[in-house]
Amino acid sequence: MRILSGIQPSGALHLGNYFGMMKPAIELQTQGEAYYFIADYHSMTSLFDAEARRRYTLEVALDFLACGLDPQRAVFFRQSDVPEVCELTWLLGTVTPMGLLERCHSYKDKIAKGISPNFGLFAYPVLMAADILIYDSNLVPVGQDQKQHVEVTRDIAGKFNDLYGPTFVIPEPLIRPDTAKVPGIDGEKMSKSYGNTIEIFGDEKVLRKKIMSIKMDSRTPEEPKPDADRNLAIQLMKLVAPPEEAQRYEDRLRAGGLGYGDLKKALFDFYWAYFEPARKKRAELAANLDYVEQVLREGAARARAKAREVLDRARRACGLA
Ligand code: TRP
Repeated sequence: MRILSGIQPSGALHLGNYFGMMKPAIELQTQGEAYYFIADYHSMTSLFDAEARRRYTLEVALDFLACGLDPQRAVFFRQSDVPEVCELTWLLGTVTPMGLLERCHSYKDKIAKGISPNFGLFAYPVLMAADILIYDSNLVPVGQDQKQHVEVTRDIAGKFNDLYGPTFVIPEPLIRPDTAKVPGIDGEKMSKSYGNTIEIFGDEKVLRKKIMSIKMDSRTPEEPKPDADRNLAIQLMKLVAPPEEAQRYEDRLRAGGLGYGDLKKALFDFYWAYFEPARKKRAELAANLDYVEQVLREGAARARAKAREVLDRARRACGLA
């Protein structure tokens, strides 16, 4: 079974990205042949800073390797190192009805926000379809927001197969449950666009300050808090602390007598300890960028061999070869 997913290089990853996407992706690498790539071509539809793209791409690579992506098991590469996807995007685009793309929520949302769309943004789902189909992927783990794009991929693959004969494997989406919704420091869903994130790596002082600024109410420390399970620091603690420890803090908060400052200090310590091994690994990797580059190059070579095979199959099917 081939599992494929892409991640856009869009800056430092936060706890929401980690628990929502990275951790499950890394766990899936043992369930089949995982192909994970950094979607730098896709980032071009909304990021127009070359230096930032280069930096973010490297950062995502460091973050994933530090957090346990195993390049012996998973094929890890940069999307643009396999330019064959661009040719397949064209082939697929010619069988993609305009209406299918016009109905895409993520496109409509961006238009509604007043973003003036470029052709790349409109064609985004076709490039994504090419990403998926070019590796004969069976399973595509994505967040709820990308589900429609996988459905579009299935439609496009079906259309091509109908017109030109069986060519592509029809992939299945694996939708990550929204239970992994991580609250941000203001209580909204943690998201870069809300400015409420806690990054997984970064400066200790800055991160401590963010955690100490998690929104609390004005009740005194002594007051019992029957709603302790809804406290933001407790919710975050449950992700990064041993379960019995998090439970102990929840019980103390519920009983009264635990101040919010002390609670947040404890949360910071658990959080800092949780990522300690990854932080060490990341520092080692950052001091050895040649190795990181080599991982991505080798990943690309493996991915590219498969991509070439599927692209040639598609070219033959439609009469280009
Ligand atoms: N569009 C995805 C996102 O923003 C990233 C992505 C690009 C992707 N190509 C993909 C995900 C192929 C899964 C499969 O999250």
